[in-house]
Amino acid sequence: MGVLQQKVALVTGAASGIGSAIADAYAAEGARLFLADRDAGRLAELARRHAARGVEVVTATVDVADAEQTRAMVEHCVSALGAPDVLVNSAGILTEVPLVEMDVETWDEMIAVDLRSVFLCCRWAVPHMVARGGGRVINIASQLGIKGGEGLVHYSAAKAGVIGLTKALAREVAPSGVLVNAIAPGPVSTPLVDGISEDWKRAKQAELPLGRFGTPAEVAPTAVLLASDPGGNLYVGQTLGPNSGDVMP
Ligand SMILES: NC(=O)c1ccc[n+]([C@@H]2O[C@H](COP(=O)([O-])OP(=O)(O)OC[C@H]3O[C@@H](n4cnc5c(N)ncnc54)[C@H](O)[C@@H]3O)[C@@H](O)[C@H]2O)c1
Repeated sequence: MGVLQQKVALVTGAASGIGSAIADAYAAEGARLFLADRDAGRLAELARRHAARGVEVVTATVDVADAEQTRAMVEHCVSALGAPDVLVNSAGILTEVPLVEMDVETWDEMIAVDLRSVFLCCRWAVPHMVARGGGRVINIASQLGIKGGEGLVHYSAAKAGVIGLTKALAREVAPSGVLVNAIAPGPVSTPLVDGISEDWKRAKQAELPLGRFGTPAEVAPTAVLLASDPGGNLYVGQTLGPNSGDVMP
């Protein structure tokens, strides 16, 4: 028996990178998957792969920054699989531009996709968890939300916002049995970091105590821990850091 046997896990950003690896790890632990992303083609591929292994899986093509689409996404999950036991907010974007060159649209898009989305998905999913008296929310933040990064004021601000939201919501709903936590990975090799300059990547790698980026499969076990009983039972409002030693709070 896996530690998430029959649990319903709603994972955003599930078509790639960390979200996809978390979905894999949850499936291996017996979870039923509701996979959301804006990349319909990749979602369909993943749904076929999971279904071929006997995993119960439903997908939804969603823009996580959109209020109505995320509301419909949660209702779809409830009607197809049941209310989510676990919500993982992993969808995100990353762009790199110095503040003095940043246009307002770039700022707004980052805050919408990397922060507003977390509020929206929590807003629609958490009431189901509170009503049932249990659930787990796992928000994928970033170590850059703790330490900041040059050329990344929008991303760092959004991720710091995710960490603040996580703490505040954790306080609100822990008495109802809903545990809210964040994971703040260090640099992880995924398509997200492909857009960052080679100079930044080289410099980043050199400053990591571990000397290398992580892989999505090395982040996913932290999300299993936070979702599991009893392993995750005492984590409330925490930000766990599988980050190659980049930040040591
Ligand atoms: N890779 C890293 O180094 C790293 C480090 C720290 C934190 N993170 C965070 O981890 C999360 C996952 O990143 P990743 O590295 O796996 O990236 P990724 O690009 O591999 O995956 C992100 C997924 O989010 C989806 N997505 C983006 N915008 C969306 C939208 N508006 N609506 C729906 N889906 C959308 C993409 O289609 C993609 O499938 C992000 O929140 C990211 O900020 C990544």
